[in-house]
Amino acid sequence: MEGHAAESPDRSNALKSGTVPCHDRTKEARLALEEAPGFHLDDEGFRTLLQHFQLSWSGYRRVRKGVKRRLGRRMALHGCMDVEAYLQKITEDPSEERTARELLTVSISRFFRDRKLWSVLREYFLPRWAGKSEQEFRVWFAGCACGEEVYSFKILWEAARTLELRLPPLALYATDMNPEVLERARAGKYPPGSLKEVPPEWLQDYFCLVETGFEVLPPLKGSIQWRLHDFTADAPPLDVVDVLLVRNNLLTYYLPPISGPVLDRMLGSLRPGGLLVVGNNEVLPPVNTPLLQSPLCKCIWVRQAEPAGKDAPKS
Ligand SMILES: C[S@@+](CC[C@H](N)C(=O)[O-])C[C@H]1O[C@@H](n2cnc3c(N)ncnc32)[C@H](O)[C@@H]1O
Repeated sequence: MEGHAAESPDRSNALKSGTVPCHDRTKEARLALEEAPGFHLDDEGFRTLLQHFQLSWSGYRRVRKGVKRRLGRRMALHGCMDVEAYLQKITEDPSEERTARELLTVSISRFFRDRKLWSVLREYFLPRWAGKSEQEFRVWFAGCACGEEVYSFKILWEAARTLELRLPPLALYATDMNPEVLERARAGKYPPGSLKEVPPEWLQDYFCLVETGFEVLPPLKGSIQWRLHDFTADAPPLDVVDVLLVRNNLLTYYLPPISGPVLDRMLGSLRPGGLLVVGNNEVLPPVNTPLLQSPLCKCIWVRQAEPAGKDAPKS
């Protein structure tokens, strides 16, 4: 983990509004857990915990072991000998509930994850966004983890500029409910493993070597607003966006009774013609917003205009 970033206005607003009750609560919780002896959280207990938070058992398939261990240690730290005792603690203590939710998050990511998506964005969509308007082009990365997909997008954009595509001004809004990953994202330092899919010329143009791997160069860090935001609870951070990326989080880890309405609310800020981008293996829950899957890439959905007269008063 890097050193503490300076307090941003977003973060201090979040602190004022009580969204972050304690600075780096998750980081402290995780560090304490590394030391703590664990309680063995079995599958049944884990299922009960997931059900409490309306999270998906199958979504956690690949990461179950590590997340169970983390939660088991947290339970032991509170002297909870079974999952019922921990649920009781969560019910009585809202800050422990937030900590548990954050400990249940999974921040695995990498640059240019899902290669096809990035090549379709680069070859098909970027040229269509060029020269159309001088208006700010807005992209919202919901559940951005440590920023890998945010900087990937920025690299595509910057590389297209060098090809003299006349792209509009870019504004990136990157949100996550976990303050620890946002801190890492701002720092922009990554182990070599997360950069495996970055072409060598981009590695050279957009990164410098640091002790732990690579750091994105300062120009890449501009025009990105990192914000603490829980998409299950908070209103979208802006009214209109051109692209909304919700990848490998809402549709993987949350159950449809949560993911459908939450996605619909997020889609409320996507302009007609704008793109929704989901993970490669993710399936859309039923939503009311009209969407059309791109024939070029299964992760891309184009928001359609509402059918005429949808909101017209009934006679
Ligand atoms: C597996 S990472 C995905 C990162 C990136 N979108 C990608 O596809 O590579 C999931 C991220 O979603 C975040 N997340 C999970 N639930 C969230 C919520 N309710 N609100 C905001 N972020 C959330 C987690 O904290 C985590 O950083």
